[in-house]
Amino acid sequence: MTDIVSRNPAHPLVEIARRPASSAKDVDEAARHAADAQRAWARLPAGERGQALMAFADRLSREADSLAALICEEVGKPIGEARAEVTRSLDILRYYAGVVLLPDGETLPAGTGRGWLMSRRYPVGVIGMITPWNFPLAIPTWKVAPALAYGNAVLLKPASPAIGVAQRFAAAAQEILPDGIVHLLTGDRDVAEAIIDHPSVSAVSFTGSTAVGRSVASRAGARGVATQCEMGGQNASVVLRDCDLEHAASTIAAAITGYAGQKCTATSRVIIEDPLGDAFVDLLADRLQALKVGDPALPGTGVGPLIDATARESVLAAVARSSGRTITGGTAVDGLEGFYVHPTLVDVRSSRDVLVEQEVFGPVAAVVRARSREEALALANHGSYGLVASVFTADLEAAMTFCDELQVGMVKINSATTGADFHAPFGGSRASAFGPHEQGLAAREFFTQTRTLTFT
Ligand code: SIN
Repeated sequence: MTDIVSRNPAHPLVEIARRPASSAKDVDEAARHAADAQRAWARLPAGERGQALMAFADRLSREADSLAALICEEVGKPIGEARAEVTRSLDILRYYAGVVLLPDGETLPAGTGRGWLMSRRYPVGVIGMITPWNFPLAIPTWKVAPALAYGNAVLLKPASPAIGVAQRFAAAAQEILPDGIVHLLTGDRDVAEAIIDHPSVSAVSFTGSTAVGRSVASRAGARGVATQCEMGGQNASVVLRDCDLEHAASTIAAAITGYAGQKCTATSRVIIEDPLGDAFVDLLADRLQALKVGDPALPGTGVGPLIDATARESVLAAVARSSGRTITGGTAVDGLEGFYVHPTLVDVRSSRDVLVEQEVFGPVAAVVRARSREEALALANHGSYGLVASVFTADLEAAMTFCDELQVGMVKINSATTGADFHAPFGGSRASAFGPHEQGLAAREFFTQTRTLTFT
């Protein structure tokens, strides 16, 4: 039996967690157990499910500091960002603990005499979840919390570099929640496929790359199973000539480099309206150079390591393939053990450049110049992705036009592409997403099914 092992990206010889890969038999047993447990869980009054989620949040909050330290050690996230991720996860659990008591349907005028006509939302059943390593606590939480709130059971398969955090999350869930409604399965593609193919699994929620998301959607679709896939991004921050330049430069620098650019919401393209050009590029380069690159466990660190050696090679190879001019960065950091890359800005000359069209997943952004607002909008919509865009401007009319015309799932005016409000819908369009959005009340579209009820 193979072991799944995670290692510290800042100190790659240090092992963080180890767990045997799940077998096909493990998946089968977990799915059958979950299907049995789900029926009883769904029959509980909604308020009791909410109380259970609240107790789960309280249980996790007692280990908030050590969970943040584990996120930092296992996936190399700077400790401040790791702490914020734990807080966000607790907030998500508490939010859905309350959301369970919101109306679960609607009444409609009946077609006949004294009859009643209504629709109610019911749980879907057992949900397979395939989650990434970059938000090892928040992403499982924002899938599991609404799934459970609406009466479903869960099979969770986390990405292997984050199995330690997933183990802690699942252990707390299993201690507090009724037996069988949360199962942890570990492994790679074969385990994910066994989950997707299992007849007891009624829906699959995935976060990761566009290529893998599409294969998940087509495999699940082949047996008529719904999918929700949050996939890649190549997000633009648009800087219009009337904006607050200092604010735009600091915000964009953070959006390029937060968690070393390993967020699907990271800014990867900075589109600058003439005549700001070089002046804004210099300001942004200054902000990037001021960030401290180093050990994510140290409080002053702005940029930590990439997740592994392959990730670093792929980021540096993308920069090398670009035909643009490197303004700052573009190299690995010497003298540190982990997989560090200097924050990088590249002035590109072609909209076909690799840094414009492909998701790089590192602290790297392409600078693109626009002669007008119309051209800035067209450049922002260029390419296949459509997750999030931000626009920096003091002009309300321009902000409203960009909100209407950007082909993305989320638009942020004068704020970073990164970050999400857990009570608002989260998701993209075009190559960035498939299926209903996550989080907020939008989550019920995926985690419930509507039944129409007629009384005559
Ligand atoms: C993500 O980028 O995957 C999560 C959203 C965020 O906090 O930026």
